[in-house]
Amino acid sequence: MLAVSVYEGGEIRHETVADPVAGPGEVVVELRAAALNRRDLLVAGGTYPFPLPLIPGSDGAGVRRDTGEEVVIYPALDWGPREEAFGPDFQVLGGPRNGTYAELVVVPEVNVFPKPERLSWEEAAALPLAGLTAYRALFSRGGLSAGETVLVLGAGSGVSTFAVQLAAQAGARVLVTSSSDEKIERSRTLGAEGGVNYATEDWVAAVKELGGADLVIDSIGSTWPQSLECVRPGGRVVVFGATGGTEVTLPVRPFYFGQWSLLGTMMGSPADFAGLLGALSSGTWRPVIDSVVPLAEAATALETMASGRHFGKLVLACG
Ligand SMILES: NC(=O)c1ccc[n+]([C@@H]2O[C@H](COP(=O)([O-])OP(=O)(O)OC[C@H]3O[C@@H](n4cnc5c(N)ncnc54)[C@H](OP(=O)(O)O)[C@@H]3O)[C@@H](O)[C@H]2O)c1
Repeated sequence: MLAVSVYEGGEIRHETVADPVAGPGEVVVELRAAALNRRDLLVAGGTYPFPLPLIPGSDGAGVRRDTGEEVVIYPALDWGPREEAFGPDFQVLGGPRNGTYAELVVVPEVNVFPKPERLSWEEAAALPLAGLTAYRALFSRGGLSAGETVLVLGAGSGVSTFAVQLAAQAGARVLVTSSSDEKIERSRTLGAEGGVNYATEDWVAAVKELGGADLVIDSIGSTWPQSLECVRPGGRVVVFGATGGTEVTLPVRPFYFGQWSLLGTMMGSPADFAGLLGALSSGTWRPVIDSVVPLAEAATALETMASGRHFGKLVLACG
């Protein structure tokens, strides 16, 4: 099959490799489309100590070879029995196990779900990891209710485009931050009331002027102190990324005076994935796709992701 592999030093090769073979309890999926996540950049950049070469990619949709069923892949492997957190065998598809930047992928049978009928192949491939992360962050961890205000940091992020749409569908008031006024405008079309440009404005002051937030969705990491400043007393900040940095210093007294909650989250359980698919089927929203390029151009798509120019998901056409 044709696949895209990461080699030592971050070299990306589009090459012919042996077809993967399904083991017991596994299925082969003939991929129609795959999608990028920021994790793939970390895999290519050597952040994770995975043996190389490795086919990256957590997101994909395609045809199950043994039954002909059209499927979307749930990318969390071996979540385990606890809803609160994954167990010791948990892995993410696309490192260390080969992922979806390929014509074929092998996954456990329990990780394939029926493809949502109203989505195209590209949209279905764009859904899993980012949609799942947004769903769990908002609802399972964030406890978002109708009528609450949620602030989503970094409107252009793939996860953020799902968070905005899911929160709006749930009846929340949605605010965003972005480095781009155009991305804020695009977020309005997804259901956001408005937003603040963090590159040109004091976004904490602006959010406070807008009444503050009950819940902040923070994938930036370096912004924890500012995110906590934005929440009302008793509010929550849910965190799942470190795009802006991995270390922060927090003032302790305002934290307990404010009775704030700082909650970590990571992808999602099978129940979260089912919840995401349920939200999709009862709504009219669709995954936001920035662009679709052939599998052979995966390196270019990764460069686009690194640049932050995109809005929504970068997708690869696999076959
Ligand atoms: N733990 C998990 O389960 C999990 C799952 C998925 C993703 N993640 C993490 O979540 C983050 C987003 O992932 P993604 O795939 O959606 O990435 P992405 O599409 O590449 O989004 C990155 C966006 O972050 C925003 N950003 C960067 N620096 C910022 C700052 N200082 N303040 C506010 N926004 C800033 C930018 O938004 P603008 O262009 O609008 O400025 C940028 O477009 C990554 O850190 C990723 O590793 C974690």
